[in-house]
Amino acid sequence: MSIDASLDLARDSSLFHSMPIGILRLSAKDAWKVIVDLRATEKRSGAFELNQDVSCALGNACLIAEANPSACVLLQVKDPAAIAKAPIASILSEDTLKRFTEGLHQLFRGQNAIVYDGSLTIVGGGEHQVAFNLWQTQREVAQDDIYLSFSSLRERISLEQAKDGLQSDLARSARVSLLGEMTASIAHEVNQPLGTIVASAEAGLRWLSRDEPDIAEVKLLLERITKNGKRAANVIATMRALASNKKSERLPTDINSVIEETILLLRTDFAKRQVTLRLDLSPTLPPVKADKTQILQVIVNLALNAAQAMADGQAWNRTLCIRTRRDGADVMVDVEDSGPGIDLHVRERLFESFFSTKETGIGMGLAICRSIIEAHGSRIELQSTPHLGARFSFALPAEHAQTNG
Ligand SMILES: Nc1ncnc2c1ncn2[C@@H]1O[C@H](COP(=O)(O)OP(=O)(O)OP(=O)(O)O)[C@@H](O)[C@H]1O
Ligand SMILES: [Mg+2]
Repeated sequence: MSIDASLDLARDSSLFHSMPIGILRLSAKDAWKVIVDLRATEKRSGAFELNQDVSCALGNACLIAEANPSACVLLQVKDPAAIAKAPIASILSEDTLKRFTEGLHQLFRGQNAIVYDGSLTIVGGGEHQVAFNLWQTQREVAQDDIYLSFSSLRERISLEQAKDGLQSDLARSARVSLLGEMTASIAHEVNQPLGTIVASAEAGLRWLSRDEPDIAEVKLLLERITKNGKRAANVIATMRALASNKKSERLPTDINSVIEETILLLRTDFAKRQVTLRLDLSPTLPPVKADKTQILQVIVNLALNAAQAMADGQAWNRTLCIRTRRDGADVMVDVEDSGPGIDLHVRERLFESFFSTKETGIGMGLAICRSIIEAHGSRIELQSTPHLGARFSFALPAEHAQTNG
């Protein structure tokens, strides 16, 4: 938890006592005098530096005026009076004291708040790793009272882990909801090869039950069965990959085949929305280093957004163009539509989680695209022209460019 520098705890003492993180009110009056003296010496000798002696002098001049209950818990003191008037140097390790005095100097020069990690010495022995906030209220610089708060890094780490877990759960539910949107396409893409398999098997049986079985014809039909079986299995594998929560794995990937796989999953959706697809895929691309399922997810999201924008905007020309091209050491992917384009006020919030202009939108599509592309060391660029459409582009590093570099 970080503290807002505008928090004036002197005016609101109940806040000081009820905050769930440790806060000390420090009397810095004498510490400012030390700094003023040192700066005066500096002017004469040019030798003002925050060395260990200066740290000690400042740490001993800065006294604990008050500790809130959370600070007492962290410091393991039962009676706040037990640490009142103690110098701050008594509860900070040498390194932390150095950072504290650097912070004090920054406050003196007018900064409102400084944040740093360090260790806090437990009065009865032992140390705590904590995140410190050192701040003064914004009324004036170098006032008598300043505040030092500290919260356990262990709590921060577990909060961050919880946040990561939440984000990955969200990303997963967005992928599952994508699958929901693609149900019609998926059913079609599995049913079609299954239909061909059944028809081929029936035909094969007929050829075999003839007086003179035609083995060559049966061979052809069996090959068709195998091909269609693989096609259906591919669709299922893609679906499973989208629904699973496996760890990211970046391998050499043929971006064009990822796009073709995406299209297979979206064909029915495009037809329903009367969207014409144009593929402009460069045939001479090197493989890129990417997590195939994640990139597939990005392209599905961008292509679905484009199709939705063109259909919802009643565009008379509904062309979705997916392009791949070489750009130096990178491979570029463009997803371009001929929809209404994106208004400036929407553009500013486009990549925020839960931002959506659609009635049934979750608003996670582009947020997820951005985090995936950023995790690949790149960024998503947007070009938009009112009434003419939008183009989302991203670059992925070519595999051999990475291994060479
Ligand atoms: N190609 C596009 N043309 C016009 N507007 C777009 C386009 N792509 C995205 N947008 C705008 O950006 C917003 C956010 O998109 P995003 O994909 O993050 O969420 P969503 O599509 O609304 O919901 P979902 O979580 O279901 O994807 C959309 O609601 C839409 O207003
Ligand atoms: Mg979307």
